[in-house]
Amino acid sequence: MSNSETVLLVGGGGREHAIARSLTADLSCDLYACASNRNPGIAALAEGFETLSETDASAIVEYAERVGATLAIIGPESALQAGVADALDAAGVYTFGPGAEAARIETDKAFQREFMQTEDIPGCPDFAVFEEVDAACEYIDECDGDLAVKPAGLTGGKGVKVIGDQVSSEQAKAYLREHDYDRVVLEERLVGEEFTVQAFVANGELRTTPAVQDHKRAYEGDEGPNTGGMGSYSDATPELPFMSAPEYEAAVDILEATVDALPDYKGILYGQFMLGADGPRVVEFNARFGDPEAINTLPVLETSFLDVLTAARDDEPLPELDFDSAATVCKYAVPDGYPTDPDSGVRIAVDEESVGHALLFYASVDAREDGLYTTTSRSFAVVGVADTIEVAEQQVEDALAAAGDGLRIRHDVGKPDLIQQRVDHMRELRSE
Ligand code: AMP
Ligand code: GLY
Repeated sequence: MSNSETVLLVGGGGREHAIARSLTADLSCDLYACASNRNPGIAALAEGFETLSETDASAIVEYAERVGATLAIIGPESALQAGVADALDAAGVYTFGPGAEAARIETDKAFQREFMQTEDIPGCPDFAVFEEVDAACEYIDECDGDLAVKPAGLTGGKGVKVIGDQVSSEQAKAYLREHDYDRVVLEERLVGEEFTVQAFVANGELRTTPAVQDHKRAYEGDEGPNTGGMGSYSDATPELPFMSAPEYEAAVDILEATVDALPDYKGILYGQFMLGADGPRVVEFNARFGDPEAINTLPVLETSFLDVLTAARDDEPLPELDFDSAATVCKYAVPDGYPTDPDSGVRIAVDEESVGHALLFYASVDAREDGLYTTTSRSFAVVGVADTIEVAEQQVEDALAAAGDGLRIRHDVGKPDLIQQRVDHMRELRSE
């Protein structure tokens, strides 16, 4: 039984709404939140909500002190990169999220790969880092394509170009010449099925959560530009239908090796993996929950999230995590034209009541007197939780039937056909 805690949540997206819901399920949590957008779902759960920039460390510290925060948790990577965790920690508010230096595991892709190489973390693709565009373009020619091209810095998940998949070698070179990034990573193109495993990390320990598969491409059938994530699913087991238990464990082993190399890391460590015939390789690490992946994971977490945070702060062993053995499917509704040319200002026709058994998480919405309207980012997510992926998916579709015009949804996420394609793809790779 925990004592009452005052927790400050930084961030206002769907992921943070899921964090807010999970934290406040523990009645010992008094939640305050701040973000640049007022998320109505978070505001309804919180004692207070301040509209301020997620990267304004001094304003966030001032707010934390004003509300008497005893803990803080950070959602978005932009805040981590801006040193918000460092500033809150320095002000005496224990923050579940890494400082800017440790967050480089996400915010600097060149650092991330060099770290993996130096520390001998398994699953690292072959890579090279370039500061000169000409040298990078020559390397693309030498490798005859088959590379992933990654700007080293943060690009909101939209900067990576995979040659042979999204772009030709010529287009990749033109992209590099056009943007003239300070540093780019060119790495082996990994082939397989992608999945995410997120872990709670503190005091040299980690607690892992079930695997999730996100869908980054904007359109059905994995077509179109990359987005922040259009939808995702998890199964009633830690692994996904296309994955064996030892393959899931291999991903956990990679996260463990990473935490062993970063004994002071605190917060969420998110591993994005590519599962090939030889097991999982690392696509990237993130220093925070995924969005949407958090929206799959937190609704099935039965252990008190607040207890994890207090154990982390108090240097106690992290509690073992219990999960409801349920599958989840999450679909984001985004404005038409997202991500390249989004139309905003469409009235949102669903609410907590209309979604029935499914759960609604708000992301970027504009609250006007007569209701909620879309902005230019992802609008809201609906999640189904059920015994099987199929039933969870149906719950989401039933809930979204009322979503109306002006929104786009990847209806294929979590559908039996798509899951079967993933299973068949892995079967094909394994028998090669
Ligand atoms: P990231 O921003 O690193 O998550 O990359 C965005 C997306 O690009 C990933 O989700 C993958 O689909 C793809 N990607 C990144 N790195 C690689 C790689 N080495 N091989 C193949 N695809 C990749
Ligand atoms: N869903 C991908 C991410 O949060 O980076």
